[in-house]
Amino acid sequence: MALNDFDLVLFGGGGDLSMRKLIPALYARNRAGDLPPTAQLICVGRHPWSNEEFLATLNENAKPNIPAANLTPQAWDAFCARIRYISLDATDAATYSALKDVLRDDPALTRVFYLAMSPTLFAQICKNLAACGLATPNSRVVLEKPLGRDLASAKQINQEVGKVFDESQIFRIDHYLGKEAVQNLLALRFGNVLFEPLWRREWISDVQITIAEELGVGNRMGYYESSGALRDMMQNHLLQLLCITAMEPPLSVEADAVRDEKLKVLRSLKPFTPTTLARNVVRGQYRAGHVEGKPVPAYRSEEGANPDSMTETFVAVKAEIDTWRWSGVPFYLRTGKRMADSLAEIVVRFKAIPHSIFAQPTGSFQPNCLVIRLQPDDGLQLNLMAKTPGDGMRLKPAELELDFRETFKTPRMDAYERLLLDVLRGQLTLFMRSDELEAAWEWVEPILRHWEQDGNDPILYTAGTWGPAASSALIGRDGLQWREEALPET
Ligand code: BG6
Repeated sequence: MALNDFDLVLFGGGGDLSMRKLIPALYARNRAGDLPPTAQLICVGRHPWSNEEFLATLNENAKPNIPAANLTPQAWDAFCARIRYISLDATDAATYSALKDVLRDDPALTRVFYLAMSPTLFAQICKNLAACGLATPNSRVVLEKPLGRDLASAKQINQEVGKVFDESQIFRIDHYLGKEAVQNLLALRFGNVLFEPLWRREWISDVQITIAEELGVGNRMGYYESSGALRDMMQNHLLQLLCITAMEPPLSVEADAVRDEKLKVLRSLKPFTPTTLARNVVRGQYRAGHVEGKPVPAYRSEEGANPDSMTETFVAVKAEIDTWRWSGVPFYLRTGKRMADSLAEIVVRFKAIPHSIFAQPTGSFQPNCLVIRLQPDDGLQLNLMAKTPGDGMRLKPAELELDFRETFKTPRMDAYERLLLDVLRGQLTLFMRSDELEAAWEWVEPILRHWEQDGNDPILYTAGTWGPAASSALIGRDGLQWREEALPET
C-alpha cells in the first residue's frame, strides 16, 4: 500500500536511538522506494547545528549502523537530501516557531511527531505542540519506551498526552512487537491447526521467555542507572512476548481485537504477594568477567557508573496466569546484560509422555519442546523423540528446524522499519494501548516497591554467565531447568 505524503518530526533526532535505529530504518525504507517523493524528515534537537553539521553527524554516527551491503553513496545522498535539522528546546514552546515554519499546513498530509526522548518530557512536548497549533487532527505521536517509571508516572503521561491526542493518534512503541519472529508466532498459532489444541495447561508444562544480551550498558549509563532491567526490558518487551504467547485467539488482527486479548492476559497475571516476591523474583547485577573471551568490567566499574549502584542488570521472574487455559503453568521470564550469549527465545515445553511402551524408562524421554527463536536468527525448532537407525528400538531426541531466512529468501525488514511504516499507515495493532501499558506497570510495580524496601543488594553474577545461581534455583524449585541447562552436553 503506497504511503500518504507526510512530514515526520523526530524529537531527539541527534540522540542514540535515532543514530542506531531510526535513521537507518528510514534510510532503508527510502532506499526501498517506500517514502513519497515529497515526504519530509525533520530532525529536532537541542544542539545549535546547521543542516550541514547535522548531516556530518549522521555520516559519522548513523551511517556505520547501516549494513554495508545496503549502502550506496547515491542512496545515502538521496536520503540526506530529505533531511532538515531544526534546533529547538523541547521544553520551550517559544522555540517551536522554527518547526511551524517547515511543517506543511495541509490536512490531507500525515504528520508524525516521534518522541525519541526521555518520557519525562512527553507531556511537556505534547502541550507545546498543542499550544503552537501543531497537533492537528492529521497528526500522530509516537512514544518510545519506557513509558514512565511506575504506574503513577505512566498514568500521568497517558493523561497528559491524552489531553492533546486521541488514543487513535498515539503509537506507544515496543520494538519487540515489530520483530519478524513475533509476527510469526501469531502466524504459527493462528494460521495452523496443529498447535492450538495443545496450547493449554493440559499439554504444556512451562514456558520460558529469555532475552539475553552479551552487551553491557555501553554509553547509556545515564539512562540505565535510573532504569534497570525490570523497567528497561521486563515491563515491556518480555511482558509483550508473554501476551502474544498466552493470549486467546483474537477476532482478527485489527488493532483493538489484538490489544483486547493482550490486555486480558496482563489483567490475569497473578499479583505478587510478599511470599512470591521473595521466592519468584531474582535481581542480579554483573561483576567483572569474560564475554566472548575478552575481559569486561563489573557494572559498578563501567564508565560513569555509581560504584555503589543497586541497579539490576538481570532479572528473572516466575509469572502465573490465572485463567482456565493457563492455570498452573509457570511462565519463567528472564533478561540480562553481559550474559553468556545473545539470544531471544520463547520456549514452550510440553508435558512428558505418560508411559513408555519401550525398553527405555519413561524418564529418558525428553519432553517435546517448541522453541520460537527471535534472535540471533529467527526460526522455529521442534524437539521430538525419534528412533535411532539400525537394529533395536532406541529413541533419542531429534530436532525439526525451520530457519525463516533460509525458507523465505525475501529481503528482511528491521523491527523499526516495520513499525515506522505502520505509524505512517495509521496501523495500531503492534502498538500498546494506554490500558495495556498501565496493566503491565500494575503487575511490575510491587517488585519495584519490594526492592526499594528490602535494602538488599542485587545478587552479583559473573559477566559472561547465565546470571545468578538464584535464577537456576527459581526454576529448579519446580523441578525444571532453563533450556540451556537442560541441553545435552556437546
Ligand atoms: C531496548 C533496551 O529497548 O532493547 C536496550 O532499552 C536493549 O537496553 C534493547 O539492549 C534490546 O533490543 P534488541 O532488539 O537489540 O534485542
